[in-house]
Parts: sequence; structure tokens; C-alpha cells
Amino acid sequence: MNLLHHVARYAVNQKMGHSLKWEEPSEISPRQRPGKSFLYIHVPFCEHICPFCMFNAHKLNRESSQVADYFAALKKELLMYKQAGFDFGAAYVGGGTPALVHEELAEFLEFVQQHFDLAEISVEANPHVSDAAVESFLAVGVDRFSIGVQSFDDGMLKKLGREGYGSGEQIRERINQLLGKFRILNIDFIFNVPDHDPEILARDLDIAVADKVDQLTTYPLMEAQQNRSYVSRQGRISYDLEAKLYKQVILPKLREHYTPVSSWCFSRKDKPEIDMLDEYVVDYFDYVGIGTGSMSLHDSRVQVNAYTLPLYERMINGGKLPLVLQTYELPRRDYMLYYLMMALFGRRLSFKRFEEVFGVPFKRAMWLEWLGLKALDLVYEKDGYVYTNERGMYVFLMILREFFTHVNRFRSLAKLASHKLEEAHGAAKLTFEPLAGGD
Ligand SMILES: C[S@@+](CC[C@H](N)C(=O)[O-])C[C@H]1O[C@@H](n2cnc3c(N)ncnc32)[C@H](O)[C@@H]1O
Ligand code: SF4
Repeated sequence: MNLLHHVARYAVNQKMGHSLKWEEPSEISPRQRPGKSFLYIHVPFCEHICPFCMFNAHKLNRESSQVADYFAALKKELLMYKQAGFDFGAAYVGGGTPALVHEELAEFLEFVQQHFDLAEISVEANPHVSDAAVESFLAVGVDRFSIGVQSFDDGMLKKLGREGYGSGEQIRERINQLLGKFRILNIDFIFNVPDHDPEILARDLDIAVADKVDQLTTYPLMEAQQNRSYVSRQGRISYDLEAKLYKQVILPKLREHYTPVSSWCFSRKDKPEIDMLDEYVVDYFDYVGIGTGSMSLHDSRVQVNAYTLPLYERMINGGKLPLVLQTYELPRRDYMLYYLMMALFGRRLSFKRFEEVFGVPFKRAMWLEWLGLKALDLVYEKDGYVYTNERGMYVFLMILREFFTHVNRFRSLAKLASHKLEEAHGAAKLTFEPLAGGD
């Protein structure tokens, strides 16, 4: 197995597992750092729950007031941040499947825009997205629309438990109907499912390239508590196969027509107006996540929201931020490491920007990391930037895969903490348990 995989796993485990200290969540404190932050909005509802999914997803129940209650709570949470002095410059609506509840979401996005001047809005959807949903998102100025395709291959869709979203041919047709409507249409693929056939992945990418899809995101399958039993039913995740699929299929298939904008996101070269990344953490230093199980990183702390819908709503309706986990203030050096990781995952680090943020030149503050990156031949320097080369892109994909696997552990911790809080308050039986996977 790739030695760098072990190094990546060890380094991320050390930082996120052993040296991260948790404390009692505090109340919101007034904003200290000037400037705009990124807003992540979690909308957890889905039509079906996919067995491989690592997110906090709940089966939609249109019979109850579930959706209306949730958006009412989101509005209150947003206003809590506004009152504390936060300003947001862009928003990413993730899930779950936000587009499924388009009426409520479009109305909510108008509400956000009344309070903040957003330069970019991104929304996630599945291939079943309706024309009415598309029209309502265009009307509220959504820039980037992202569809979870996963694969165009019927066998792979079956293996992923995604037959409910149509055949590969039907999904392809829907994608082609949607192309040209938004500034960016992104489609997600998943790769390195146990025993993933390289030819199937190659065919999937050939279709996307032939159809000139604006942006492609290729996620390596990541482990989470929710998908553990699914993964073991399928076999096991092989990181040798991951490296092979990335280096011998994804990069060669996309090199000619796509520019990598992160280690796993590629935008069409002939559409230079596509400058938006899928990874908000790369462009904005601080981000705030609202909604169930959302995570935030601002003012040197990581915070995680209540995972279950009843607890989330009850905390908000009680006038409190719905936090269930919070770290101590991160040491400045850890913040720098985080910044370095995210910037190079996003392919480039600006020396000027680093110095603006940390008040010290990059090569002085991080001389050891800089020497290591060069010695391992992962980066090159050009015009005031450090860029990853293709070798570096794969190393940062591994690091981010490990990072998100850890984030999934935080979500599991938040779920546990949420259950404990539920019990402590003698709450009624939970009605909306997260359902993703065989958890
Ligand atoms: C939150 S989903 C939003 C899209 C929509 N819900 C759908 O599935 O069509 C975003 C993407 O996360 C990816 N994803 C979900 N679970 C994953 C896992 N365990 N490992 C890697 N990627 C995953 C899928 O590619 C999915 O399209
Ligand atoms: S991958 Fe499936 S379960 Fe997960 S968010 Fe998308 S539709 Fe929902």
C-alpha cells in the first residue's frame, strides 16, 4: 500500500484525533475577525437513503410539518449569527437533497439574501430534480447546481443502491436538459467502491466529457459509521485501487479538457468563467454551518450542531445556538496547517494571502513543511503561488479523504452527544432518526 497513505492517515489522526480537545459549547460571542465568512446550510431531507452515504440524511415525510419547522429554525439560527456580527459572502446548500424541498428552500434563500449580500450560491440536487425546482432556483439566483450522478452504469447504480433515481441513460438525458441553465452545472461521481471496475469509471468519465458537463467532482468512497455495514457487504476499500483509478483513469481522462480546481473537482477549460470551487473552506478562511449536524470553524474553534432534528429545533426555539460540541481554541500553528492543507487541496497557496492572514511570510512560518513538500516533489512555485503537481494532487486527495473520515467521526460524536442531551431533558421519543445506511 502507498506509504504516503499511511503518512496522511497518521498525520490527520494525530491532529484531529489525539491533539484536538473538546470543551463545553459556549454561547455565541461577538464576532472579532473582520470580513466575510462562508455560509453552509444543511438541508437533510432525501427521497431514499443510499447505503453508502456518509451524511446526516433523513427520509422526507411530507405528511408532517417537518420541513416547515426545519426552515423556521434555520431562519432563527441565521439571525443569531447576524446579531453576533457575522457577514456572509457566499452560501453552499448541501444535504441531504436540498432541491427536494425547493419551495421552502427558495423562500429561505430569498430570506438569506435580504440579510446578506451573497456573491455565489450553490445548491445540491439528485437526478430526479423537477423543472419547477430548477425554475425556482434560477429565480433566486443560484449560480452552481450540483447533481449526484455517482455513475451512468446501471450495474454500478444498483451496487450503490441508486436504482431509484432512474437508469444511467435517463440520468444522462436529465443532465443534458439541465446543461446551460446555471452558470455551473456540476455532477458528482463516486469512485473506489469495492472492486470498482476501471473500465466502468472510464466510460462514466467519457460520457461526461462528451456531453461537455461544466464541472465534475470525483469523490473517493469515504468511510463513516453509517456506511460501515454497506462497505463490508461489498468487500473492502482498497487504497491501491483508489490510487490506480485516480492516476490511471481520472487524471488521463480529464487532463485534456478540464482544469483541476481541487484534488477532486475539475472544471471545463473552455469555460474560464467557471471559477467557483466546490470546497468553500479553500476560499474563505472562516465558515459557519447552520442546520442539523453542521460544522463551523471560526474564531479559532470547531463547533458541531445538534444532530437530531428535535434537539436542533428545541435548542433554537429555546433561543440558544444548537451547539453540542466545541473544541478549545486551536493553536495558531494548527490553524496554519489547516490553511496549508485546504489551500493545497485547492491546488494553490498564495504567499501574499498567507502573510495577510497570519502576519508572517509562509516560508518563514512553515519552512519545514515547505522543505518537505519540495523534497517529496509534490509542489512547484510560480508567480507568488505554490501549486500542487499531479503527484501532490493525489497526496492532498488522500489527506482530505482522511480529514473527511475524521469529520464523519465528529458527526458520530455529535450524534451521541445529541442523544445524551435528549435523555437529559427527558424528551419525547425521537421521531426523526437519521436513517443513512445500516447504522
Ligand atoms: C450530499 S450528496 C448531495 C447530492 C444528492 N443528495 C444525491 O445524492 O444525488 C453529495 C455527494 O456526496 C457524495 N457522497 C455521499 N456519500 C459519500 C461517501 N461515503 N464517500 C464519498 N462521497 C460520498 C456523493 O457523490 C453525493 O453526490
Ligand atoms: S447520497 Fe443518497 S442519502 Fe446521501 S444525501 Fe444523496 S440522496 Fe441522500
